[in-house]
Amino acid sequence: MVVFALAVFVTLSSCSLGCSGNKTSAELKMWSVENQSVAVQLAAVFKEMESLRCEQTTLQQQQQQQSALTQMHMRKGQSGGQQEVGTHVLTYGPPDNEGEDDDDLYFSEEDSRRRGDPCFHYTVLDQAWRATNTTTKSKMCDRNVRWKGWYRLFYRGRSIQMPERCVPVDKCGTHSPLWLAGPHPKLRDGIVTRRVCGHWKKKCCAFQSTPIKVKKCRGNYFVYKFTQPSTCYLAYCADINTLVCGRCRRNQSCESRDKINWRCKTKRTRSRKVIFFASFPGQIKGKVNQIKYSKVLVNVGRGFSRRSGKFRAPVKGIYQFFFSTQTANTGQKTDLWLVINNYWVAVSHTHVSRPSSVGSLSTYMTFLRKGALVYVTHNCGRSWANSASTTITFGGSLLAQYK
Ligand SMILES: *[C@@H]1O[C@H](CO)[C@@H](O)[C@H](O)[C@H]1NC(C)=O
Ligand SMILES: *[C@@H]1O[C@H](CO)[C@@H](O)[C@H](O)[C@H]1NC(C)=O
Ligand SMILES: *[C@@H]1O[C@H](CO)[C@@H](O)[C@H](O)[C@H]1NC(C)=O
Ligand SMILES: *[C@@H]1O[C@H](CO)[C@@H](O)[C@H](O)[C@H]1NC(C)=O
Repeated sequence: MVVFALAVFVTLSSCSLGCSGNKTSAELKMWSVENQSVAVQLAAVFKEMESLRCEQTTLQQQQQQQSALTQMHMRKGQSGGQQEVGTHVLTYGPPDNEGEDDDDLYFSEEDSRRRGDPCFHYTVLDQAWRATNTTTKSKMCDRNVRWKGWYRLFYRGRSIQMPERCVPVDKCGTHSPLWLAGPHPKLRDGIVTRRVCGHWKKKCCAFQSTPIKVKKCRGNYFVYKFTQPSTCYLAYCADINTLVCGRCRRNQSCESRDKINWRCKTKRTRSRKVIFFASFPGQIKGKVNQIKYSKVLVNVGRGFSRRSGKFRAPVKGIYQFFFSTQTANTGQKTDLWLVINNYWVAVSHTHVSRPSSVGSLSTYMTFLRKGALVYVTHNCGRSWANSASTTITFGGSLLAQYK
């Protein structure tokens, strides 16, 4: 199995390299398109767009491969898991959320981390008697189980989680039901240690059992690293009220105030705000590779650097930029270029032949990767501004963020 996984990862990484050849466009040659026709410069931009599209396709393929891998791991666990847990009967339910998140693109987890991640390597524990609504005469004791590795709770094939509240005695197929004395973790918490309590004789935490480890996984489920409880008859519970959580979508979380009634709640998507506006408070003559717009009027989202006068995209998305100048009577051509990842993408051109002055403003909109570098270059001519005129400006904003 490990050998197979490695082979897949190697294939994936070489595929993504084959995409653009150059991983970050910032590595491309500086000033390579100087003095070249607009057609040549545009061609360079199209090439950049192509490589972005290629990158997205690769990520999508990667995700499909990974979900295939996950299923293989689960099937592998099926044959190995049964002997470990002794008398307990393990059945393997279908993966939850089936068919719901096929189109949901995510790529936050590294392949290498996935390989050791309990979210993908757990034993399915599907025992209906563990449910909080079962009252049985039989008494199970989890002290008799040789717990090994991580477990995910199911109820008749449906994902379920431990109760976060005191469960009445004689439920969950045992005398003293074990419940989680603390909230389930969030994704960002990773693996946490939680106390476990056993209810007995009107005391919700009569038995302070050995703490367990818990982790939240993408797709709204939890994995538990159970340990032998301190005594008999204690058993880990599966909260029947949390069955609904298995049906939550990826962009939802399962929530409850009273820890009894659970429901799927759509997360508020906090989109990043990136907006900046800056000006150059003096005159510019001839060639200035990167205009240092030192007067910063707006800088939300920390994309713009006053020190360098450059903007670096803090997230992936669609951005809009504008840049302006004012040309005085010079008889010269004045060219101001917007430069993205070292490609000259848009010009603001003026040619004033009579005693006059002309203001010009250009805009540009594009898709940028995180880290893309944007600045303005003064290629030739003269631009006029003073500290109050705000005539030589550079600004932009993030229109839509892409995850
Ligand atoms: C990658 O960068 C090299 C220079 O470092 C350049 O010669 C080559 O054309 C680039 N490849 C692509 C696909 O852009
Ligand atoms: C670019 O053009 C300018 C004049 O427009 C010229 O002086 C300069 O030598 C050119 N540079 C290159 C690298 O061809
Ligand atoms: C427990 O709840 C489940 C799901 O609501 C239900 O199917 C089952 O019949 C209940 N069991 C008992 C003993 O009430
Ligand atoms: C949540 O995801 C579903 C698809 O899984 C989508 O239809 C829905 O619009 C999303 N909701 C929000 C608020 O993003």
